[in-house]
Order: sequence, then C-alpha cells, then structure tokens
Amino acid sequence: MKQLLLYLSRQADSLPRYICEQLLQALIGWVPTVVGIALRAGAYRTMMRMDGATAIEDGVRIRFASHVRLGRGVYLDHGAYLHACPGGISIGDESLVMKNAILHVYNFRDLPKSGIRIGRRSLIGEGCILRGQGGISIGDDVYLGTLVQVLAVNHVFSDPTRPISQQGITAEGIQIEDGAWIGSGAILLDGVTIGRNAVVGAGAVVTKDVPAYSVAVGNPARVVRDLKANPLAHPAERGVVVY
Ligand SMILES: CC(C)(COP(=O)(O)OP(=O)(O)OC[C@H]1O[C@@H](n2cnc3c(N)ncnc32)[C@H](O)[C@@H]1OP(=O)(O)O)[C@@H](O)C(=O)NCCC(=O)NCCS
Repeated sequence: MKQLLLYLSRQADSLPRYICEQLLQALIGWVPTVVGIALRAGAYRTMMRMDGATAIEDGVRIRFASHVRLGRGVYLDHGAYLHACPGGISIGDESLVMKNAILHVYNFRDLPKSGIRIGRRSLIGEGCILRGQGGISIGDDVYLGTLVQVLAVNHVFSDPTRPISQQGITAEGIQIEDGAWIGSGAILLDGVTIGRNAVVGAGAVVTKDVPAYSVAVGNPARVVRDLKANPLAHPAERGVVVY
C-alpha cells in the first residue's frame, strides 16, 4: 500500500487528478491521425494550460499535467514524454518537441530551481533528454539536434565511504540563450550557459560556458571559432546550396 501511494504521488498532484489525467490519456491518447490531434487539442485543456491550438500526436505521455503550459502552435510528436513535477514545463509558441524526446523535471527533493522553460519557435530534436532538476532555460529560436542531453543535475560523490546514491545531488541549472544551435549527440552538463547564437558541435561534451557567437566542439568542448571576430564564409560562396 505504501509503495502504491508513493507511486501515485509521483504521477500527479492528487488522487482525483491522477484519475482524471490518466483516464483522459487512456481514452484519447492513442487515437491516431488528425482526428486524434483535434480531440486532444480540445480535451487536454481540462488537464493542462494550453494558450491556443496545439498538435499533440498519439502516444504522448504527460505526468503532472497541471504543471505543464503549452503555447500556441506547439507540436508534441509521438513518444514524447513530459514529467513536470513540480517545477513545471513551459513550451513557448510554435516550438516543436520531436519523437521520443524526454522532458523530465522529476524532482521530489524540493529543489528550488527545478523546471524546464522553452521559448518560442525552438526545436527539441528526436530522442533528446532534458533533465530539469536544476532548471533548464531555453530561449527563442534554439535548435537542439537529435539525441542531445541537457543534464541539470549531478550526484555528490565526495565521501568515499558511502554509496553515491546516498550523498545527495546538486542542481544548478543550464541556460541556452536565443538563437543557439546544439549539434546532435552533444551533452550539456549542469551549470553551463550556452550564449546567444552559439554553436555546439555534434558529440561535444560541454563542461564550461560557451560564449555568445562562438563555435565549440569536442570532449571537453573547446571554442574553435569566434563568429564575430572570425566570421565563417557563407556556404553559397563554396557552391553549397542553402535551402
Ligand atoms: C561544428 C560544426 C557546425 C562545424 O563548424 P565549423 O566552424 O564549420 O567547423 P570546421 O568544420 O571549420 O571545423 C573546425 C575544427 O573543429 C573540428 N570539428 C568540427 N566539428 C566537430 C565536431 N562535431 N566534433 C569535434 N571536432 C569537430 C574540425 O575537425 C576542425 O578541426 P581542425 O581545425 O583541427 O581541422 C559541425 O562540425 C557540426 O558538428 N555540426 C552539427 C551537425 C548536426 O548535429 N546536425 C543535426 C542537425 S540539427
């Protein structure tokens, strides 16, 4: 019984809310095509804040829906998973969360900064994982490629005599400023800020801040270009077509 109550407390704000949110998702969460999208655009307003029309594909899983806000024109692709306890998840107008992306606040330790905020017209690519225990703030027009991991949490491991799982966590938060592009497979570690219009190369492991208007690559990520002091030639100058 204790285990059951613990489980329920980690799925929704209260038992009535758990029943309503689960029932709604069980009833219409699976319905495919535009019919399902239309059903969910209407009915899901009863369990979470939606500022306008949204497109939620079938197979999207939402927990603590009362802590979620979706802006106008937000798209949640099949398999996206949002767990918003308790700091909340807010997704701005016209932002897209692609297939199998995981937005996970999942915090039961009263962490003050937990939550995930995504601005307008941003893209969270397929299979990205955002762990928002320390707070993740993503600006407008930010692109995350596929399989990017944004990990705003670390385990404490300073005491060699105790299991790391019993030493607590730290959670400082990660910011990605407007216009940045994070290449596929990059991993951003807790405490970093990615500056405005910065580029993080595919597969980079970012352990320190990346300044605005710079390109950082590798593990650990190092700045290899300042886009203002050392601008990149436009691809068209090399005969590469830009779409
Ligand atoms: C970073 C990137 C944008 C290229 O930027 P760039 O300024 O044109 O970089 P260059 O190609 O001139 O490379 C500069 C140096 O960084 C290295 N480099 C480039 N990308 C790298 C990467 N992802 N990892 C490690 N090193 C990389 C290059 O080998 C080069 O090193 P060198 O000077 O020793 O030869 C590109 O390599 C990249 O990673 N793109 C992401 C692709 C992606 O994720 N697409 C999904 C779409 S959302």
